[in-house]
Amino acid sequence: MVPLAAEVYLDACATTPPAPAVLAAMAAADAEAWANPSSLHGYGLAAAERLERSRVSIATHLGVEPDRLVFVSGGSEANHAALLGMAARMQPGRLLISAVEHPALAAAAARLQARGWQVQALPVERRGVVRLDRLEELLQPPTRLVSVIWGQSEVGALQPIEAIGARCRAAGVPFHTDAVQVVGHRGIDLGRLPVDLLSLTAHKLQGPRGIGALVLAPGVEIDPLIGGGGQEGGRRGGTEPVGLAAGFATALDLAAARLHRHGGLDPLLPLRNRLLATLLKLEGVRLSGPHPADPDGRLPHHISLLVADAAGRPLAGRDLVRALWRHGYAVSSGSACSSSARKGLGRTGSSRTAVPDGESLRLRPDASPVLLAMGYSPDEAASGLRLSLGPWLSQADLEGFPAALQWARADLAAGSAGVDGRAG
Ligand SMILES: Cc1ncc(COP(=O)(O)O)c(C=O)c1O
Repeated sequence: MVPLAAEVYLDACATTPPAPAVLAAMAAADAEAWANPSSLHGYGLAAAERLERSRVSIATHLGVEPDRLVFVSGGSEANHAALLGMAARMQPGRLLISAVEHPALAAAAARLQARGWQVQALPVERRGVVRLDRLEELLQPPTRLVSVIWGQSEVGALQPIEAIGARCRAAGVPFHTDAVQVVGHRGIDLGRLPVDLLSLTAHKLQGPRGIGALVLAPGVEIDPLIGGGGQEGGRRGGTEPVGLAAGFATALDLAAARLHRHGGLDPLLPLRNRLLATLLKLEGVRLSGPHPADPDGRLPHHISLLVADAAGRPLAGRDLVRALWRHGYAVSSGSACSSSARKGLGRTGSSRTAVPDGESLRLRPDASPVLLAMGYSPDEAASGLRLSLGPWLSQADLEGFPAALQWARADLAAGSAGVDGRAG
């Protein structure tokens, strides 16, 4: 076993360490504005003022009016609030999603399916990008709602949401996008995007866990998922977490300032590209998802690989994650826990060709439904490895990773995988 200099965290798409300024902003807000923002006394007014300052700041970064931003508990709730909140105001019809949604979105879709909606998945091609050529046909009635993930968390694919949104607008169908992995890594001006609802969460951009937002375009309204005291303009009941909102606003300030300093581009991009180029020179290592040079591109902080042994046999991504942790690197594999959520959706209409059938997942329960939907075999779909970078990293932190990957593969070949370490 090679001694560790220090562990390196390469799992930003799972969550990120809160930035020191975020912790400070939360501590200050919790100390000074701890009251219930709905209270009419001075303490309450101070809390309400602090909350609204955070809302204005976040909304300004996203190019929307502050009253269009609904604080929720995170990306999962934002996705549920978007789909269920919109559907509550409609007759059941068809919901169109992509074949590579996050399990939280797929779970919300499954709820609608149980309520009489038809859920259909827009197929993706090999790189995980939705097939726009199928969109026109699938936008026909009875499609009433469309939701497509913007930045795919597992394979990094950026979906052509401007083209999708424009077609939805032309068809008069509301369009939601899950932008959880995108926010903080590129500028977003919702006023210029054909998007009706957008989900984001703070903890992917060095903000706190437990807060996110659903952003509504002008004129778009939802029924609340959670009723109660009329908070958030009646769109989400529950006493607002003023401290978390302050941390969220600070995290987005930091990300926006970083982008601004680098001409709108994520400064992680060159680091990622250098590491990826080195990794792709290793035998048995392939990229999944789009190449950074592809026109659609990929998330700038994201690398997703398929890893095989010396004989070309796919290795289990989960074993690699554990082995890499023993060599000092925190990474992740394709999300095996999402498989059950996908099974139901695989049986809907013509999505059958794009979404993995239950059989593949039964044969190989650790296969990633996202990689299966992209056309990989069950063994390949279990061999995914994801590295996702954050601003805490320098070039020096990444230099040892290719060697560590080779050691980890050697460990697996020697049969020492899976005895300790952490789950992926
Ligand atoms: C694309 C995407 N959507 C939604 C979520 C869920 O967000 P949260 O953990 O804030 O509920 C995640 C988190 O992994 C994600 O990557």
